[in-house]
Amino acid sequence: MNVWLFGYGSLIWRPDIGYLDRAPARINGWVRRFWQGSHDHRGVPDAPGRVVTLVREAGHCDGMAYLLDADVVAATFDALDVREKNGYQRFDLPIDFLSGETQPGIVYVAPTGNHAYLGPAPLVEMAQQIRRSHGPSGANSDYLFDLADALRSLDVSDEHVFELELAVREMG
Ligand code: SIN
Repeated sequence: MNVWLFGYGSLIWRPDIGYLDRAPARINGWVRRFWQGSHDHRGVPDAPGRVVTLVREAGHCDGMAYLLDADVVAATFDALDVREKNGYQRFDLPIDFLSGETQPGIVYVAPTGNHAYLGPAPLVEMAQQIRRSHGPSGANSDYLFDLADALRSLDVSDEHVFELELAVREMG
């Protein structure tokens, strides 16, 4: 069976997977937060960066859904399980499309309390951490800026992301 995968972070602008189709989509009842530590991509074990996870809260998260061909589903998830290994798990969540249609889907969520979970912090502290962190995948600030750009290109507004972007940019 073909499977829909929903991306709300790096999977929006750098999916690095093959897909049959993609479409802007939304997860209801979850919001995007820079509350997950990154020890492997945008930080290092002694100095983790901050990346996004989904938190169950009133609201929604807009992102991009990818339709995976049944033939490559297993291999795609094998590769993504490695990429998202630092605390993320696959969740089954309904994906809502702009057309009004809802489809079952898979989303990588780093749940509260996972070993790399950082949780909330004051905006300035999160911005400072993102500004100074670097890892094997690059600067943490580039992750934030690329996400903000990708959301703008989808016409998506996300106050949490845009406030952090402004705070980091103002730090120079
Ligand atoms: C995602 O993009 O859906 C998961 C989080 C990330 O890889 O940034």
